[in-house]
Amino acid sequence: MASSRPTTNNVGIPVGSDNDSLTLGANGPILLQDHYLIEKNAQFNRERVPERVVHAKGGGAFGFLEVTEDISQFTKAAVFQPGTRTESVIRFSSVAGENGSPDTWRDPRGFAVKLYTTEGNYDLVGNNTPVFFVRDPIKFPDFIRSQKRRADNHLRDADMQWDFWTLRTESAHQVTWLMGDRGIPSTWREMNGYGSHTYLWENAGGEKFWIKYHFKTDQGIGYLAQADADRIAGEDADHYIRDLFNTIKAGNHPSWTLYVQVMPYTDAADYRFNPFDLTKVWPHGDYPLIKVGRYVLDRNPENYFAQVEQAAFEPSNFVPGIGPSPDKMLQGRLFAYPDAHRYRIGTNYAQLPVNAAKAPVNSYAKDGAMRYANPGDPVYAPNSYGGPHADASYAGETVANYGIEDEVIRSAYRLHSEDDDWGQPGTLVRTVLDDAQRERLVANIVGHASADVSPPVLQRVIEYWRNVDKALGDKVAEGLAK
Ligand code: NDP
Ligand code: HEM
Repeated sequence: MASSRPTTNNVGIPVGSDNDSLTLGANGPILLQDHYLIEKNAQFNRERVPERVVHAKGGGAFGFLEVTEDISQFTKAAVFQPGTRTESVIRFSSVAGENGSPDTWRDPRGFAVKLYTTEGNYDLVGNNTPVFFVRDPIKFPDFIRSQKRRADNHLRDADMQWDFWTLRTESAHQVTWLMGDRGIPSTWREMNGYGSHTYLWENAGGEKFWIKYHFKTDQGIGYLAQADADRIAGEDADHYIRDLFNTIKAGNHPSWTLYVQVMPYTDAADYRFNPFDLTKVWPHGDYPLIKVGRYVLDRNPENYFAQVEQAAFEPSNFVPGIGPSPDKMLQGRLFAYPDAHRYRIGTNYAQLPVNAAKAPVNSYAKDGAMRYANPGDPVYAPNSYGGPHADASYAGETVANYGIEDEVIRSAYRLHSEDDDWGQPGTLVRTVLDDAQRERLVANIVGHASADVSPPVLQRVIEYWRNVDKALGDKVAEGLAK
């Protein structure tokens, strides 16, 4: 059906043709004065923003967090007060693959949540695993490069991956997880989300707690065996995006139950594991899950680029009552994300509708590329002309003075009594997995390490798994020998 709306150029001037350029005669050269042709192609040449340097492939949805329990004894944050319902956007992603890579490649999955709270945006930028491969942000670029593409042939390379993992043994917990069933969720709906880091909470009385977030899927955990994942990668590279979009479109709203683990502030000093080390969990037996509420996704994006590709999540977006812990990885991330957004999207990314706070924004920020809503005078603080002024009651930001008596130093974390790289992955293998899961773990490791891994690295792979669990390592050795 013909549209009644005439095509215009970008400033509303009607154009004469959607199909033919302006030429000198039917077969003659194109005229420079065809401004519409030039505008259309110039716009096209600039359609892409750089993809995210990690987590490039993803999809998103909108929904809400509803707090069903009373956890006000642990935090004063408005978003976590009983009965509060907060609008949200989530973006799920894979880490290493480029935008367009198959959803079902083995990889951790991102679970990035933005909550439009009454006190400003709170972003919880987590993964589907509670731990990570490294524990110091100085190693993050090295780790990521080992998972991406080689310099010479531009191929991903198992030798490079296992070389890095076996040289940095703090990776063992996350790699055990990755090679197990949860390394390939069947859909984004059927996986948990974890804040992963330890965060700081503060209640209205000024009392502080260390906490960890767990979003447990209400759909049940689902995983793909390697062979199925490989098949789906070929049949439908966008399997996760399609599943999420179609499920929500059909009126089925996936949900997660949100829990926290809470550690009293003073427990941190001599807890058996360093509680800020991102390669460790807090066993549930030590700090049980405390229910907070439910997280529901009920609305699809209407425009992928505007609402998902340009979504900008920032672990540094804390609201009063929530703050960072001394987890070194988290500290590194506080810098990394806003820096990436300024590069990837532009200085004024926070003004885009998906990133804009629903709370009033009264900042003195002004100008810069593509700024469209600018504060007027006065443009400086302090001033006598009615500009915003800071409220001293927020001066006690939720931050810890943990460890500040120490000297300035480059050092690994101070070890707590049970800290080592092998203990928790060993527990996962021996006490959480059953025989069938252990068999699949061995098969996945052998499959992954069989291609192109050089003999010295392969030897380290076997030792790595023997350190996690002797029997597991022996089976990996047997499998690799075949
Ligand atoms: P618990 O028995 O209390 O918890 C075991 C946890 O393992 C559950 O959260 C479970 O998640 C998860 N799990 C089950 N199957 C797998 C799998 N194939 N791959 C990864 N995780 C799985 O034990 P602890 O808290 O004492 O922890 C024991 C080990 O479990 C840890 O060393 C760690 O490796 C792993 N783990 C611990 C978590 C924690 O926060 N304490 C979180 C996740 C894993 P679910 O209930 O959703 O099935
Ligand atoms: C994305 C850096 C660790 C989860 C990103 C991006 C950067 C980055 C630069 C791209 C941001 C963008 O362009 O929009 C880092 C650094 C880390 C680190 C420097 C460690 C020092 C982690 C950890 C987690 C995580 C530990 C999870 C617990 C994510 C997620 C995204 C992301 C989910 C995608 C967000 C989205 O959907 O837009 N990271 N990261 N990262 N990171 Fe990290």
